[in-house]
Amino acid sequence: MKLAIAGKGGVGKTTLAALLAQAYADAGRDVLAVDADPSPCLGQALGFPAALRAGLQPIAAMADLIRERTGAEPGTYGGFFTLNPRVDDLPDRFSIRHRGVRLLEMGGVEKGGSGCICPESALLKTLFTHLLFRQDEVLILDMYAGVEHLGRATADFVDAMLVVSEPTRRSLATAGQIARLARDIGLTRLWLVGNKVRDEGEAAFLQAESPGLPVLGFLPASEGVQEADRLGVPVYDHVPALRQAAQVLMERLERL
Ligand SMILES: Nc1ncnc2c1ncn2[C@@H]1O[C@H](COP(=O)(O)OP(=O)(O)OP(=O)(O)O)[C@@H](O)[C@H]1O
Ligand SMILES: [Mg+2]
Repeated sequence: MKLAIAGKGGVGKTTLAALLAQAYADAGRDVLAVDADPSPCLGQALGFPAALRAGLQPIAAMADLIRERTGAEPGTYGGFFTLNPRVDDLPDRFSIRHRGVRLLEMGGVEKGGSGCICPESALLKTLFTHLLFRQDEVLILDMYAGVEHLGRATADFVDAMLVVSEPTRRSLATAGQIARLARDIGLTRLWLVGNKVRDEGEAAFLQAESPGLPVLGFLPASEGVQEADRLGVPVYDHVPALRQAAQVLMERLERL
């Protein structure tokens, strides 16, 4: 099962990614959670202890590794470097594990111009493709925004892209844009997940106004989410309603 989670900023992608990762792990599955946000926070959402997180470095920040694998200096453009560096050992070498979930941080790449390719973006792109080819049982990609990391070739390997949306027109408009981009690269297995849903009316609004995406399900709005953040505990542990909602989503995903 390979899941990519996308949506407008702040809609709850990381919250959903962490909930699903823990739900799958507790169901006995082998889970690799990938944080593709340039400012990573999935580890915190999953409740990885700070001491463990301190040992985790985003792939894009590993200058020596990038140099070794691509043959070029990170941050340089226009030089020669391999577009197909070796990456197969990276997920095991650089992930950390807690409560049955392995976590990998991709890190951010400074954009130096339009359509630029630099050594670190070549490494990340190759790694993304590799992750989708790997036989991990469950892969969960917290995409931080759109689908720019997923190339045409890799679209075939994503079992489901979950586009998260709040019950607002703005959030749904972004969901629609992401869906169009995803379809452009050949990704057709797209679902909407409503988050921060306060009542039946908001659920009905999302159903009615979904931009052509079937609705997989909803996560309720809960003050417990911010509370969990302040306490430094996973939402999965702190808010039973959200844990249960994530389990329902997982069961629906299994039946797709
Ligand atoms: N079901 C919910 N009920 C209440 N608040 C929520 C819920 N889900 C998420 N939030 C809150 O919304 C904010 C954004 O959540 P989260 O970080 O998961 O979103 P995101 O889409 O990953 O954001 P970003 O685009 O910054 O990566 C957080 O403050 C979180 O506590
Ligand atoms: Mg996030």
